[in-house]
Amino acid sequence: MKEILLAYASMSGNTEAIADLIEEELVKHGLHVKRAEVYDIAASDLVLAESIIFGAYTWGDGELPDDFLDLYDEMDDIDLSQKQMAVFGSGDSSYDVFCGAVDLIEEKIKGRNGNIAVPGLKIELSPFGEDVEKCKVFAKDFAEVVAKSAAS
Ligand SMILES: Cc1cc2nc3c(=O)[nH]c(=O)nc-3n(C[C@H](O)[C@H](O)[C@H](O)COP(=O)(O)O)c2cc1C
Repeated sequence: MKEILLAYASMSGNTEAIADLIEEELVKHGLHVKRAEVYDIAASDLVLAESIIFGAYTWGDGELPDDFLDLYDEMDDIDLSQKQMAVFGSGDSSYDVFCGAVDLIEEKIKGRNGNIAVPGLKIELSPFGEDVEKCKVFAKDFAEVVAKSAAS
C-alpha cells in the first residue's frame, strides 16, 4: 500500500482540522497515511518518503510558522525530484498575505525539483461548508496522481 507522509504545523487547531479531512479522504482512496507534526520530521524522513503533503498556518506577515523553519532550511540539502508533493494551510484573509506559508513551501519544493501534484489549498481559518469539500477534492486529486505515478 502506498504511504503518504502528512506533516503539518498547527497552533490553534485549524490546520490540524484540515489535516483530519485530508487524512480521512486519502485513507478512503486506499492510501496509508503517516501523520506527523512537522517539528518531529527531519530532512531524512523526506528523503525516505515517496509522497508528501505539508500543512502550515501562516504567521507574522505572511511568514512560515516557527515550527517549520528548521525543516525549511534543511530542505536546501535534499533533492525532492521523483516525489509527488502538495501543500495546504489555514490563514486569515484579513491579513495582507493570505496563507503566505503555502506559497513559501511550494516555492521551496519547486526549488528542490519536487513535483507539485495538486495546487496549494488555502483555507480561511477552520474548514466548514464549501471548504470541507475543497479539502476532500484536494486529497482525492492527490490520491489519483499518486496512483497514476505508481502505475507508470
Ligand atoms: C500573529 C499572527 C499573525 C498572522 N499572520 C497571518 C498572515 O500573514 N496571513 C494569514 O493568512 N494568516 C495569518 N494569521 C492567521 C493564522 O494563520 C490563522 O489564525 C490560522 O487559522 C491558524 O492556524 P492554526 O489553528 O492551525 O494554528 C496570523 C495569526 C497571528 C496570531
